[in-house]
Amino acid sequence: MNRYAHVSGWGMAVPERIMTNDDLAQIVDTSDDWIVSRTGIRERRIANEKETTASLATKAALRALDRTDLHPHDLNLIIVATATPEHLFPATACLVQDNIGAINAGAFDLSAACSGFIYGIALASQSIQSGAVENALVIGSETLSRFINWEDRGTCILFGDGAGAFIMQASEVPGGYLSSIMRSDGSGGGLLTIPAGGSRRPATNETVSKNQHFIHMNGREVFRFATRVMADATREVAAQAGIGVQDLDVIIPHQANRRIIEAAARGLDLPLDRFVVNLDRYGNTSSASIPIAACEALDAGRIAPGDRLVMVGFGAGLTWGALALEWVAPERKVSTARRQRRRFWTWTARIRSWLLRLQRWIEALIYRASVDEDEEEEN
Ligand code: ACO
Repeated sequence: MNRYAHVSGWGMAVPERIMTNDDLAQIVDTSDDWIVSRTGIRERRIANEKETTASLATKAALRALDRTDLHPHDLNLIIVATATPEHLFPATACLVQDNIGAINAGAFDLSAACSGFIYGIALASQSIQSGAVENALVIGSETLSRFINWEDRGTCILFGDGAGAFIMQASEVPGGYLSSIMRSDGSGGGLLTIPAGGSRRPATNETVSKNQHFIHMNGREVFRFATRVMADATREVAAQAGIGVQDLDVIIPHQANRRIIEAAARGLDLPLDRFVVNLDRYGNTSSASIPIAACEALDAGRIAPGDRLVMVGFGAGLTWGALALEWVAPERKVSTARRQRRRFWTWTARIRSWLLRLQRWIEALIYRASVDEDEEEEN
C-alpha cells in the first residue's frame, strides 16, 4: 500500500508592530518610492522584545494543529527551519516541543536560510512516505530584525519577522507531496552571511564594533543568482512530478523581491497571477516567507482541491530548492471535544515543563546525597 504525505494543517503568526517604508526613511537614507520600485515591499512586521523565534513558531504551530484532529503527543517529528535560532543550541525546535507539549517528538533545527522550509517539508514528507514518521510539524520562523544593521540601507529595508507552520500527515489517499529538489553552492557563502558569532569567529569586542553579528549581503549578486535558479528549479521539480509548467495552478515563491518573482514568471512564460505575492506587507521573512504566503493563499481560497502547486525558494548558503504538491482537502473531522482537550494539554505544557525541571532538580539532590554517602563509606 502506498503512503502519501499530506498537509493537514497550516498556521501563521506575525508580530503586531508594522514598520512602513516611511518609518525606515526616518532611520536611513532611503524612500518609499525607492523601496517599492526596487523591491515591491511596502511594510514589514517587527518583533517586540517579548517575541522570539520560538514564540512566533509556537503560535504558528498551535494554529496549524488547531486545523487538525491531532494532539501534540501525536507528533513524531518537529523541524524548525530558521536562520535566526534562539541559540546555537539548544535547537529552537526543542523549545517549541516543550512549549506545545509534544512529548513523543524528535526535534531539530534546519539551517538552509530562506530555502529551509522547502528542505524541511521535503525531509518530513520523505520520512512519512518511508513509514518512519506518521505526523510531522514543519515550521519556518524568523526574527531577522535582531540581526539587521539598522544603519545599512542595503539590507534593513528588506527583512521582516514572522512564522508559518504546516502539519504533514501520513495518508493512503493519493496526492499531497509529489516531488522535491534541494540544491546548494557553498562557493557563494560569502554573498550573504552573518560573519561572526559562530565557531570560526566567536564574539569579541572587535566583532561587535565591526558589526559582524549583523547580516552582510552583496545584493546585486544574490539577485542575479536568484533570478537564475527560481525558474530552473520550478521547471525541474514540476518535471519530476510529471506536471507541465503550464499546468501548474499556483506557485508560491520565496518572498524576497517582486522583481525576482517577475523574472521567474517571465522565465517560465507564466502569468504573474499564478504566483502568490505578499511581500508588500511582510518583506522577506526568510524561511517563514513561503509558509506565510501559503497560509494566506489557503485562507483566501486561492488553492482548491486538485490544484497542483510548486513552492520554490533560494537563500544564503547558497541554497535553493522546490517542492511540487497536489492539494488534497484535509479531512474535516476535528471534534470540538478533542480540540478542547488539545488546548488544555498545551495550556498545561508550561506546568509540565516546570514539573520536569523540578523532578530533575530533586533527582540531582538525591544523586548528590547518595554520592556523598558512598564517599563517606569509602573514607
Ligand atoms: N534606498 C535608496 N538607495 C539605495 C538603497 C536604499 N535602501 N539601497 C541601495 N541604494 C542605492 C545604492 O547605493 C546604489 O547607488 P549608486 O548607484 O549610487 O551606487 C543604487 O541604489 C543601486 O543599488 P543596487 O544595489 O544596484 O540596487 P538593486 O537594484 O540591486 O537593489 C536590492 C538592491 C533590493 C538589495 C536587490 O539587489 C535585491 O533585492 N537583491 C536580492 C536580495 C535578496 O533577495 N536577499 C535575500 C536572500 S534570501 C536569504 O537567505 C535571507
